[in-house]
Amino acid sequence: MIHKLKYLFLFLAHFLHVRSKYRIHSPFVYNFYKYVLADRTQYPDYEEIEKVRKDLLSRARFIKRVDLGARSLEFPYSQRFVRVRDIARKSSVSPPKGRFLYKLVKHYKPRSIIEFGTAFGISTMYMAMGYRNSHIYTMEGCTDTINISTHNFSRLGLGNIEELCGNFDDLLPGIFSKTDTVDLVFFDGNHRKEATLRYFDECLKHVQNSTIFVLDDIHWSNGMKSAWENIRQHPSVTISIDLFILGVVFFRKELSKEDFILRFH
Ligand SMILES: C[S@@+](CC[C@H](N)C(=O)[O-])C[C@H]1O[C@@H](n2cnc3c(N)ncnc32)[C@H](O)[C@@H]1O
Repeated sequence: MIHKLKYLFLFLAHFLHVRSKYRIHSPFVYNFYKYVLADRTQYPDYEEIEKVRKDLLSRARFIKRVDLGARSLEFPYSQRFVRVRDIARKSSVSPPKGRFLYKLVKHYKPRSIIEFGTAFGISTMYMAMGYRNSHIYTMEGCTDTINISTHNFSRLGLGNIEELCGNFDDLLPGIFSKTDTVDLVFFDGNHRKEATLRYFDECLKHVQNSTIFVLDDIHWSNGMKSAWENIRQHPSVTISIDLFILGVVFFRKELSKEDFILRFH
C-alpha cells in the first residue's frame, strides 16, 4: 500500500515536469514524439496479440514458476505453483506499453533485438510484428513459462524470434557470439540496480550509433531509479527520454546530450 502511494506520488511529480510537444526543439526527439508516442493508429496486429493475452487471462491452470529476478522473493517455495492467468496479469507488458514497443520498432526498424524477460511473450510479439525483418533474441529463466510463449509465437506464425532459456548472465555471451552489434535492447527482467547496470554495461559493448535501449519500470523502486540515473548520465548516452513507466536512451553521436521527460500516451 505504501509502495503504491509512493509510486502515485512519484507519478504526479513526474507529470509536473513533463515537457509539452511545443518545447521539444530537437528534430530527432520531435520525430520520436510524432511517429512513436503520438501515433494513435489502431494497427490490426494489436488485436491479434490481445487475443492471445485474453486467452492467457482465462487460464486457471497452474505452472511451476521459477523466477530468477527481483520478484523471486515474492514467490517462496509454497507459492511456486502459480496460475497462468495471474502471471499474465502481473508480468506481461500492458497494452499501451506493447503498442509503444510496436510503434518504436516500426519506426526505427532495428534488425537485431535483445529482450531480457520473455514471460509469455506479449512484448516479444509486439516487437516481432512491428518489424518482421527483425531478429529477436529473447531470454527467460522459467521453463514452464517459455513453453507457453513458444506456443504463442507459433500461433501467430512468428518466425523471427529466437527463444533462449536460462539465466540472463549465462545466455548473453552466446547471443553476442552470434550478433556483434545490437540495434534495440528491451530490459524487462530482474529489476535490481546492480543487475540492470551489469546488463547495461554488457550490452553497451555492442551498441552502434543508432542503437536504442528501452528500460521498463525505471521508477518502480529506489534501486531502479538509481540505475536509471546512472544510465541517463552515462557519457555514451546522448538522448534520454523518461516516460515514467519506461525509459529510452539513444547513443547517436551527432546529437548533443539532452534529457527529456515526456508524457506517455
Ligand atoms: C516482467 S517479466 C517479462 C514480461 C514480458 N516482457 C512481457 O511483456 O510479456 C520478467 C521475466 O524475466 C524473467 N527473469 C527475471 N530475471 C531473470 C534472470 N536473471 N534470468 C532469466 N530470466 C529472468 C522472469 O522469469 C520473468 O518471466
